[in-house]
Amino acid sequence: MNDMKIAVIGAGAMGGAAARGLVEAGMPAAAISVANPSAGKLVPLDALGINTFTDNREAVKDADLVILAVKPWILPDVVEELRDTLDYDKQEVAAIVAGVSGEELKGMFRKADGYPDLSVVMPNTAMVLRESMTFVVEVVGGADRAVKAFSLLGKVMKIEEKLLPAATALASCGIAYAMRYVRAAVEGGVELGFRASEAQAIVVETLKGAASLLALPGVHPESEIDKVTTPGGITIKGLNAMEQAGFSASVIAGLKAGRAVN
Ligand SMILES: NC(=O)c1ccc[n+]([C@@H]2O[C@H](COP(=O)([O-])OP(=O)(O)OC[C@H]3O[C@@H](n4cnc5c(N)ncnc54)[C@H](OP(=O)(O)O)[C@@H]3O)[C@@H](O)[C@H]2O)c1
Repeated sequence: MNDMKIAVIGAGAMGGAAARGLVEAGMPAAAISVANPSAGKLVPLDALGINTFTDNREAVKDADLVILAVKPWILPDVVEELRDTLDYDKQEVAAIVAGVSGEELKGMFRKADGYPDLSVVMPNTAMVLRESMTFVVEVVGGADRAVKAFSLLGKVMKIEEKLLPAATALASCGIAYAMRYVRAAVEGGVELGFRASEAQAIVVETLKGAASLLALPGVHPESEIDKVTTPGGITIKGLNAMEQAGFSASVIAGLKAGRAVN
């Protein structure tokens, strides 16, 4: 990250995880500033050596990238507060704020000298482990610093804004959907005779194995399924029973229902 300085506005679930993750990824804590109105959330970040502030304007001074991680209804006031402090020629802004469009964001930042480089960023809760699937939408400029920073916190994919609701359904809601699969499999495992803790350990390890197999070059879910489905065997019976109960249709219906429409 060379000598990039980052300010995070909002030390909640997303902002706090981003700041902690950046330090764990090797960024010097002194290069990160975090602002939050209630000082309590700043204490653990301060203990890591991160610069902490209760004044947003103090936090963004000298930052190359400003990450806004506040609730959508707080955002206009935060932007209003920062607009005259930010140097639009030198500072890039990334908003982790669900449901705010690029045009709305531009409207908030608009000044006589235009806009700063702006992006919408959508990580998921695995950011805390630096395993986030993060989407970046360019609003103004190429979001270069946002991509660099969030690449330290997992995988980053640049997408067009129109795909953001679908991306959110797949990757942000997707965490909950994956958890629901795990819960269902654990319940099945208990019915088959395992204790819940054992069943969870088995399901988690199996999912990790499946995800790692899919990371191999050229691997497709169906090619891996073919390897474990003996003709007339038990795996295909299990899969077909799941499909008869609506497995794939349920997943697709859930993703479509969970796709927020702006
Ligand atoms: N959670 C997710 O899975 C997820 C995923 C992707 C995107 N997002 C988006 O990320 C954003 C943040 O969500 P979150 O889950 O991190 O919310 P959160 O935990 O409520 O954190 C928001 C933080 O903003 C602080 N804050 C309130 N007013 C402020 C102000 N005027 N200036 C600076 N900070 C202020 C709050 O401080 P106090 O508590 O002290 O008031 C709180 O610590 C949301 O817009 C959400 O849509 C969330």
